[in-house]
Amino acid sequence: MDKQYIIDIQNLHKTFKSGKITAINHLSLKIEKGQTIGLIGADGAGKTTLLRLINGLLLPDEGYISINGLNPWNDKKFFINKISYMPQKFALYEDLTIKENLDFYAKLKNIDKNFNNLLDFAGLTLFQNRLVGNLSGGMKQKLGLICALMGNPDLLLLDEPSVGVDPVSRRELLKMVKKTIHNNATVIWATAYMDEAHGFDRVIVIDKGKIIYQGKPYDLAPDTKKFEEKIIALMGGFSLQASEVAKNFIAKPHHHEYVVEADNLSKKYGEFYAVKNNSFKIKAGKIFGLLGPNGAGKSTSFKMMCGLIKPTSGTARIMGIDIIKNPSAARANIGYMAQKFSLYPNLSVQQNLNFFAGAYGLSKNKADDAIKNIIDIFAFKPFLNDNANDLPLGFKQRLSLACAIMHNPSVLFLDEPTSGVDVITRREFWHHITSLAKKGVSVLITTHFMDEAEFCDDISLFYQGKTIAAGKPQELKKSTKCQTLEDAFIKIILDQKRRD
Ligand SMILES: Nc1ncnc2c1ncn2[C@@H]1O[C@H](COP(=O)(O)OP(=O)(O)OP(=O)(O)O)[C@@H](O)[C@H]1O
Ligand SMILES: [Mg+2]
Repeated sequence: MDKQYIIDIQNLHKTFKSGKITAINHLSLKIEKGQTIGLIGADGAGKTTLLRLINGLLLPDEGYISINGLNPWNDKKFFINKISYMPQKFALYEDLTIKENLDFYAKLKNIDKNFNNLLDFAGLTLFQNRLVGNLSGGMKQKLGLICALMGNPDLLLLDEPSVGVDPVSRRELLKMVKKTIHNNATVIWATAYMDEAHGFDRVIVIDKGKIIYQGKPYDLAPDTKKFEEKIIALMGGFSLQASEVAKNFIAKPHHHEYVVEADNLSKKYGEFYAVKNNSFKIKAGKIFGLLGPNGAGKSTSFKMMCGLIKPTSGTARIMGIDIIKNPSAARANIGYMAQKFSLYPNLSVQQNLNFFAGAYGLSKNKADDAIKNIIDIFAFKPFLNDNANDLPLGFKQRLSLACAIMHNPSVLFLDEPTSGVDVITRREFWHHITSLAKKGVSVLITTHFMDEAEFCDDISLFYQGKTIAAGKPQELKKSTKCQTLEDAFIKIILDQKRRD
């Protein structure tokens, strides 16, 4: 019997900027019904463009797409409720509550159903009346996924749904999707998590708008770690050279043993503690990982320690300077990369770089050198005149990181720097971070990739605003009798949940 295909793509071609940039390059592809397909590729490889073409949001220059025999842009009306698309940044209404957002999307899709199970999974049940604007990054991501899962789609297009989702929920994500959709539904799931991709029926790897591999993940490698190496090799490989970022870094001499001290920090919203009496210290030149599930209070801690929000009680000191009493002097030592893209979306890449060099008070010569360097290191040249907002997510993250380190700060605060960057760039980022630490920079970092957390010197595991475990990665694994930090993390959190 013939295989049943839901998607048939022939010779698809899509360019941008009057043909100067080829996003999809004469690509042909058939996808069987009922499969879960992992879409992998470097930042800017064409994943999002492909998903938008399949969804009928973009028109190709050449070629055709058929979905169940219909054309996604001519036959749009047949696809309402048949194709569900979760973009990288799902359009939630920040000034409506969780519940109001769900009601809104349910009405839009003509669905009369309750979402209690999905809300439970996402850990959002208690917060249904909270404004979406006040949710953590990962909580928003899960709510976006719930909205995309509404209805009973035949085709589900998910653009990096697990970005920013914590390890405990991430393990459940595929199960939740499978449970919600019907048996014969097809899922295309873009991801930078190789363990996730290894669990799908098939993977498609694209590079410069072309398919460079497709097949069963198991055929590429039977275990996840080797699979990741194979994918990296397919994508051009990663070689460890001296970090250019660290090479040009000039450390400022100082005498502090502890460069960052969080001293009984608390933040209360109404009766709810986002952070509760938290204290920790970071030694000079060390990498300190602040880990925890979505909504644990990590970003709130970062913001208090940068002086962006005022603690309800407690304080933080940066190089001995109190952030509340003397915010600008304390802040001068910090480079901060926020979780939410915080550069100027309507300025070009070049303008953003110029602006931040100016804001950090670099002299004209120093600024020119720093900017030139950064453009080389992070491969910004083709994007210099693009609006920051139009960059692929991975390049947005690079630009944010670049702007955070431009002024040679002694302390780096990085809130999920690798969320949304591809698997090779993730390694590059960490190479820069560890090299900077060797030069004396102290780093406070958060990540939901537990393999990255292994690079931290010390870890504090956060849950509901409090530290529930702390130590070196090795110590945490030992005390929980786990082989990996991911298992240790999940064990500690689940034990704590049982106790509550
Ligand atoms: N202005 C606010 N009003 C009410 N609650 C808030 C506000 N800001 C944050 N919160 C809540 O504080 C908690 C901690 O949020 P925070 O952003 O610090 O989490 P996080 O650990 O960074 O999570 P993630 O991993 O998802 O980024 C969440 O429950 C969030 O909804
Ligand atoms: Mg956060």
